Amino acid sequence: MALIEKLKLLLVELKNRILLFKSYKAQMSPELLYLYQYQNEKLNRYDLIVRYLMIDYLLGKNDSGRDLYIKMQMSRAGGNKKFELDFLNKEKGLKDLVVTMQQEGYRDKSPIISNKDNRLFDGAHRLAAALYFKVPTVTVVRSQDSNPSYGMEFFAKYFDDNEIRLIQQTEKKILDEIKPKEVLTEILNSQKQEFGRGIFYQSFEEIDIVGQRPTEERFKIYGLAQYLTPSMKVLDIGSNCGFFATYISRHVKYVEGLEINQSLVDISNMTKLLLGRKNINFQQGDFSKAKFNNTYDFILSFAVHYWIGLDIETYARRLWNMLNANGYVLFESQNIEVQDVDWDEKIASFLGGGFVEIESGSLCDDNKIKRKFSLLKKI
Ligand SMILES: C[S@@+](CC[C@H](N)C(=O)[O-])C[C@H]1O[C@@H](n2cnc3c(N)ncnc32)[C@H](O)[C@@H]1O
Repeated sequence: MALIEKLKLLLVELKNRILLFKSYKAQMSPELLYLYQYQNEKLNRYDLIVRYLMIDYLLGKNDSGRDLYIKMQMSRAGGNKKFELDFLNKEKGLKDLVVTMQQEGYRDKSPIISNKDNRLFDGAHRLAAALYFKVPTVTVVRSQDSNPSYGMEFFAKYFDDNEIRLIQQTEKKILDEIKPKEVLTEILNSQKQEFGRGIFYQSFEEIDIVGQRPTEERFKIYGLAQYLTPSMKVLDIGSNCGFFATYISRHVKYVEGLEINQSLVDISNMTKLLLGRKNINFQQGDFSKAKFNNTYDFILSFAVHYWIGLDIETYARRLWNMLNANGYVLFESQNIEVQDVDWDEKIASFLGGGFVEIESGSLCDDNKIKRKFSLLKKI
């Protein structure tokens, strides 16, 4: 190959690498990056907490942070002398980082490295320090495929009960200091959203979040307090940011939310984690393809059937099959002047498919779109 061709190829390769690098680079608050280290409400990176405690120790705020840190580094080495030395040498790096942070603030020169799901690969000292000193944002490069895990199983093996208790108390303190509204808004803004007109689609009064549609008001308009009971299992189809599902979780035994958009599922899961709710489960998925292991006493189908795209008979049949005996569907339209001009025919399909109508109503809760709803009971 001629030299000029080789150079051209090299240039293309270089350009692609730069593009790839750019698309993988993000600015993120340390709180949000920390929250991404949770999976099913379990923290996979307790090493961050130990580093946090070590920083606290270096600033003279506790006595045990260094012991925990040294123990953790030795345990990570798993008896390998070379690794032990490498890990122990990192203590100096952390000390230097703390001094620099105090003198100059966070120097965001070398990015934190994660995988595409923001799971930490490299930069745990920097993330712990950024969290500790409440730095506004850090740079993250999502360039790795793998990520190490230091979950509670690892720590339970090497640490005693008192040490675990301190680690867990510190974890709770960090979570308590995170402001839900700020991190949830950060995720919302990190991706262009189809629904919500630039703000959340659903409001959540409990954490001071304004949305296109007011959750507590909707709950009242539908008259849900009258029908939901503490023994019920509920499914919310197209649960969006999960605020409606989280709100009603206080009224029922269990709520499941299915949502096609992963960033909305992230918001839902983080809300659940930050509010400490246990009886909710959010899944990413497309309703038209999803398989369900559960059956439900109450299904919420709010402004979603049009997006799912199944014909209404098939949709009604599917919901009927997913309901327990005497179960309910609360079926809400899209815009009755646009997508649901044939709303009465749609309700007729439900009535012909094994449901009776218990209640019906209309709402215009966002002062823009007129909708109707119907409470249908399986017979
Ligand atoms: C108009 S919003 C309604 C949100 C929520 N049900 C409410 O009324 O507050 C429609 C939601 O359904 C989700 N969605 C669209 N198609 C879906 C599908 N096939 N399976 C699950 N969710 C879907 C969208 O991402 C969006 O969050």
